[in-house]
Amino acid sequence: MKLLSTSHDRSLSLTGLALSACLLTAGCGGGDDGGDPSTDGGSSDGGDGTLSTLPQPPLTAAPGTDDEPIAENPEFNTAQDFEVRREPGARLPEEMEVELTDADFEAGVPEPVLQIPDSIDPSSNQPPFFEGLTNLDVLAGDIVEIVYLPQDPEGGLPGMFPQELPQGATFTDNFDGSKTFTWQPLQMDVGVREFTVVAIDPENDQYRSSNSILIRTTLPDDPSSIPNVAPMLDEMFEYTARVNDPVVIRLKGVDLNGSVPTVEIPDLPAGASINQDPRFEEIFALKFTPVTAGEFSIDVVIRDSVDTSLTSTETVSVTVLDNIEFERTGARLRQLSANRGIKFGFASLQSFYHQPDGAIYADIAASEFDIVTPENSMKMDYINPLPGRFQFAASDNLVRFAQLHNIDVHGHPLVWYRQVPQWVEDTPAADREIVMREYIDRMLMRYAQAASVWDVVNEPMADDGTLRDSVWFEAMGERYIDVALRQARLSAPNATLLINEFDIASGAKANGLIALIDRLQQREVPLDGIGFQLHLFSSFDQYDELQTTFASIASRDLDIYITELDISVADGATSTEQADAYRRIVDICLNQTRCKAIQMWGFTDQYSFRTIFDPLPFDRAYQAKPAYYAIQDALSN
Ligand code: XIL
Repeated sequence: MKLLSTSHDRSLSLTGLALSACLLTAGCGGGDDGGDPSTDGGSSDGGDGTLSTLPQPPLTAAPGTDDEPIAENPEFNTAQDFEVRREPGARLPEEMEVELTDADFEAGVPEPVLQIPDSIDPSSNQPPFFEGLTNLDVLAGDIVEIVYLPQDPEGGLPGMFPQELPQGATFTDNFDGSKTFTWQPLQMDVGVREFTVVAIDPENDQYRSSNSILIRTTLPDDPSSIPNVAPMLDEMFEYTARVNDPVVIRLKGVDLNGSVPTVEIPDLPAGASINQDPRFEEIFALKFTPVTAGEFSIDVVIRDSVDTSLTSTETVSVTVLDNIEFERTGARLRQLSANRGIKFGFASLQSFYHQPDGAIYADIAASEFDIVTPENSMKMDYINPLPGRFQFAASDNLVRFAQLHNIDVHGHPLVWYRQVPQWVEDTPAADREIVMREYIDRMLMRYAQAASVWDVVNEPMADDGTLRDSVWFEAMGERYIDVALRQARLSAPNATLLINEFDIASGAKANGLIALIDRLQQREVPLDGIGFQLHLFSSFDQYDELQTTFASIASRDLDIYITELDISVADGATSTEQADAYRRIVDICLNQTRCKAIQMWGFTDQYSFRTIFDPLPFDRAYQAKPAYYAIQDALSN
């Protein structure tokens, strides 16, 4: 599904809605309801750095009353100690979504998309490829079978993986270098869909080609010939919960024939309840509060709504541990770090209070950390997916949680090249400066009271030390960074403004960033610090270089934030090596007076964007790993 390329007129239509959205900020004003004198600079951002007044009415549609979340029924979440606001459905309005079209299908197999690392010269090492891929026309109920055998012009056997499997499809290894894609498209799949397999060069696993085909499914003349398959539950994971915590498990029935199944629990445990979500008929919330430890397994019957005798049964299970199992020796990280004058924090899983293990997640978060970054909920494609549509609830909820527990919020990110909504990509370059400024202003008007630190510009650098291409760079060149920072200062004069970047311990990218800082300072652009992401492996060995780069940032009168620390366990490495790496990073921060905070990108391996590498100090069952105690130790000494 991709967003319709909205026309200029539509995406930037002016609305009569000039309501201010000041739910969480005290000093609301400015922004979209106009008249904030602080933005009345009069001239555009010329050499003197003043910004022009934002247009009135605004160029992009402002949040309206529909974007204001309302309180949610507590039956649907594990939060106990703060009120959760209702989040919008994940669905965008139908009319804004378009399937791939017949025209796309007729245009033939899409060109492969190459990912070429700097070290590869494609003229001497050609990318891996597939021979004979074609688009396929099928009827719902047919079985599609495609054997994928990747080839490489230089010989050797390329690896491969499917980008995303349609529900019910399989991609199985034939143990001869080939894999077979098998899929029976059903009523739900009618239309044109893309299926992509990525081939990996035998010599360099970062050298890849993505190969798509389009599969067009139509209904047969006699739809009753399509087999009615048993409905199932949407994927469930394994969870650990704590005795006496509420556990809410969202059960989502899926029927590939397109009808909505019902979900039943024949043996509802005593005290448990099951409620249909008032907004989504296919979602049922099972809520129970285990009072003893043990493995809780509950059978769920998913019943077909067309043929009610057709069911499947699946078992969901949660491991419940006694309170004592979660106890950690020593003091909490937030207390130890406060003693050292820094903050210690994490990036929060979006909507953790909707997870079955949300209560223990919240409890550890509140006790261990005093600063939190929203992992995804403040990203532009999520919070402002369509012109004039804002999804604030997830961020509002995180802010409420943080305020209740005296946790500072680190806003992330205002301007980034990724997770940008389609409507922004479709906006003419000439309008993007105002789009960016209005967005920054709206976010800060709403959240700057709660969030004192902001990643204003995220990942501006390319590997070679030049500026990375992006929708923003394309429209404004380097000036987008000046404008973003100046707008942030205008909209939130007290906020700490950062540029956040990864892979900047040393080398061309670090040097490029420092050169950028020098130019920004020359132009008197407001900038308070640099965020170092530090997504590392335990084999990381650039500690000295990192320390030197910290010093060179500090010598420019800037603060340092470690913003996204996680340390993946490298091939063959142990949790002790991971712990040592955490210790060394904490030491480096403590040895640098300008280092203000250490934030990890999550805290439990259960929820990490690099979960396969177990990069965090708590395991999937919320047990503290050696890394946790190494951090404690480093903060104490
Ligand atoms: C990641 C999130 O962790 C994922 O859940 C999401 O799918 C993609 O983004 N650098 C950043 C973060 O600045 O915003 C990224 O977060 C990780 C890399």
